[in-house]
Amino acid sequence: MQTPIQQTPLSSSDIFQYNSEAMHKFEKQMARFFGREYQRWRGNKTAPEAYGVSSFEGNIATEVTRKKAIGECYDDEHGYAIYRAFLDRDYMAYTTGYYGADAEEAMASTVSLEKSQEQKYDLIIERAQIEDGHHVLDLGCGFGGLSKYLLNKFPNLTITGINPSEVQTGHIKRLIRYHDRNFEGERFRLIQKYIDDIDIGGEELPLNSVDRIVSIGFIEHVTNLDLLFQKLAPILRPGGKCLHHCIVSIDTIPRLLAADDTRIGDYFPGGHIWPFDELPRHNTHLRFAERWFLNGMNYWRTLDEWHKRFWRGVDELYPRSIQNVEQLRYWASYFSLCKAMFIPNEGNSYGNGHFLFERAR
Ligand SMILES: C[S@@+](CC[C@H](N)C(=O)[O-])C[C@H]1O[C@@H](n2cnc3c(N)ncnc32)[C@H](O)[C@@H]1O
Repeated sequence: MQTPIQQTPLSSSDIFQYNSEAMHKFEKQMARFFGREYQRWRGNKTAPEAYGVSSFEGNIATEVTRKKAIGECYDDEHGYAIYRAFLDRDYMAYTTGYYGADAEEAMASTVSLEKSQEQKYDLIIERAQIEDGHHVLDLGCGFGGLSKYLLNKFPNLTITGINPSEVQTGHIKRLIRYHDRNFEGERFRLIQKYIDDIDIGGEELPLNSVDRIVSIGFIEHVTNLDLLFQKLAPILRPGGKCLHHCIVSIDTIPRLLAADDTRIGDYFPGGHIWPFDELPRHNTHLRFAERWFLNGMNYWRTLDEWHKRFWRGVDELYPRSIQNVEQLRYWASYFSLCKAMFIPNEGNSYGNGHFLFERAR
């Protein structure tokens, strides 16, 4: 059910307000565009190399990712206030929540955004087989949501979180400083670096020291998956497992392989949407074990809630944090554009993947 949202002083500009007729029209048009695109490439299992994009070459994080995705998008000086306004209050997760196994279940769910994030964490715990007493690496840990949930759920679990972002790690440091009870004691360690720059086998990430590696919404920023897996493998204890959660397309859709080829590049410069078949190709350093597809309507629901909360807070944000109409348009378009990508084919063409890898015993 759609909730009415108040009009803002910007009502007269050409920015589509949440739940306005213009917003629905725009999202429908965009969804038709993406629907045609997915239909055009239906059944296409060609590897990305054929389209000039390879997950076996280059750096883990490219210069564009460092400078623009992290340096400008995540670490924008006003970013924190904006993310605070629309992300869930408990975890500040900047990735999909989990509402249900298929489109019908996801759309019928009545749980809150906060609860949907917990449901996602529970699904990941089950699939990665995380247990109390484990040492977990939260790779690309954002504002610390997964770590917070795990520390609260398992009293003997320890975590290393890795994240280069100043703004996001600033939030975690405040949780630690102001004694958020989940981050008390010696159970959580934060490394504010790119995984690329960490010396594997050194003090920060000793060999054979981690039981589980989990990344949520991080693989989209990675260019060379082969190099990443090569780095991660020796950190895991023998028998250890690694689960990656990331946005995927079921088929290979050339224009999605490199974010900078589309408007998505404005939000995730240097990013990639890998096809569902791409991660299992990396079966060298770690053994690929299993994968699951999460219906895209889960992300649609999440984005719609973010969108709604964003507009509820817009009078607070504009013009203090969002300083001009151009920036407001940038954010408003973000929610609509991303929603439109998940909706075609009832979320069965574009959604999230869970990929489980293991280190041999
Ligand atoms: C979309 S956010 C997801 C954050 C969090 N996992 C969540 O679910 O809310 C992607 C995260 O990956 C981190 N990241 C991107 N590239 C990285 C790299 N090369 N090394 C370490 N972290 C990276 C970003 O700083 C950010 O925290």
